[in-house]
Amino acid sequence: MGTVDTPIVAVHSTGDGPSAWVAALKAEMPGVDARPALEIAGDDLARVDVSISWRLPHGVMASFPNLKLAQSIGAGVDHILEDPQRPTHVPIARLIDPFMAGSMTHHIVLQILRWHRQADKYERFRADHFWAMSEAFDHRKLHVAILGLGTLGEHLSRSLTALEIANTGWTRSPRSVEGVASVSGAEALDALLGRSNVVVCLLPLTAQTEGVLCAELFAKLPRGALVVNVGRGGHLVEEDLIPALDSGQLSAAALDVFRQEPLPSDHPFWADDRIYITPHIAAEVNPATASIVFAKNIALVRAGETPTGLVDLNRGY
Ligand code: GLV
Repeated sequence: MGTVDTPIVAVHSTGDGPSAWVAALKAEMPGVDARPALEIAGDDLARVDVSISWRLPHGVMASFPNLKLAQSIGAGVDHILEDPQRPTHVPIARLIDPFMAGSMTHHIVLQILRWHRQADKYERFRADHFWAMSEAFDHRKLHVAILGLGTLGEHLSRSLTALEIANTGWTRSPRSVEGVASVSGAEALDALLGRSNVVVCLLPLTAQTEGVLCAELFAKLPRGALVVNVGRGGHLVEEDLIPALDSGQLSAAALDVFRQEPLPSDHPFWADDRIYITPHIAAEVNPATASIVFAKNIALVRAGETPTGLVDLNRGY
C-alpha cells in the first residue's frame, strides 16, 4: 500500500475485465495506484478520486466518498447516468479518443458500402460459382444523413466526403463545424431525411433521442433506405423495423447495438438477413489509446482543472 494520501483510480470494465485497463493505465502513467474497482474495500474506498468504468455495477460508485471524476470507458455515458445511486455532484467525462473515431468510421463505411455495392449478393454468386453483373453502382445517388455531429459524426462526415459520398450532419441545437454540411432542428431533420437514402444514428442516448429510429422517421426517408444504428439499442423502436423492411420502406438495417445485449439467440432480428448484425464492436475502446486520455484527465482533475470530455448533465452528453 502507498502512503495514506496516495489517491486511487478505481477501474472497471465488463468486456476484457479490468486488468488490461489497469495495466494500460500504469504504462501510460507510471506510479499511478490503479486497481479493479470491485476489489477496493475498507479505508481504501475513501482514497478513490477517479473511477474509470464501463458498466460498473450500480451502487459501487456511491461507495467512493471522495470521488472527483467518473470517467467513462466509452463515448457514451448512459451506463453511468443509469446508476440510481450515482453521486450526482461528481462530474462525468466521456471518452473522446481519435482512435475510436477512425474505428467507428471504418465500421459505418463498411456497412454503407456492403449495402450500396450489394456485397451479400456477390457473396452468394461467388458461393454458387456464378458470374453475373447487375446494373452499375452509382455513388452519386447516395446521401447520408448523420444524426449527431460530435467527434464521431464529424470524422465520419469528413471521411465520406473524401470518398465522394454526399452527406449532411444533423444536430438538435445549432452547431456548425467548419467544412461539414449540417442542419439542425426538427423541421430541417424532416427535409434532410427526405433526401437521404442512408441514415446513420450517432446520437447519445437521452430522454430526447430514445426511440428516434421509429416508423415515423422511416416514413420520411425515400423508399428502400438503409438505417445504420451505432448509437445505442434504445434509439431503435425494435418492433418498427421488420414491418418497415417488409413494406420496402427500408431495404436493410445495420445494427451494432441492441436494447438487450447480448442479443438473445431467439430474437427475430437474427433470422432476417436484411438486418446486418454486429455485437457492439463498431468502435471498440482501445486500452492503449484510451489510457492516454485517461492519464491526462486524472492529471487535470488532480490539479483542480477541468477534464476533457466533460458531460453537460442538463443535456445528458
Ligand atoms: C460504446 O458503445 C461507447 O459508448 O463507446
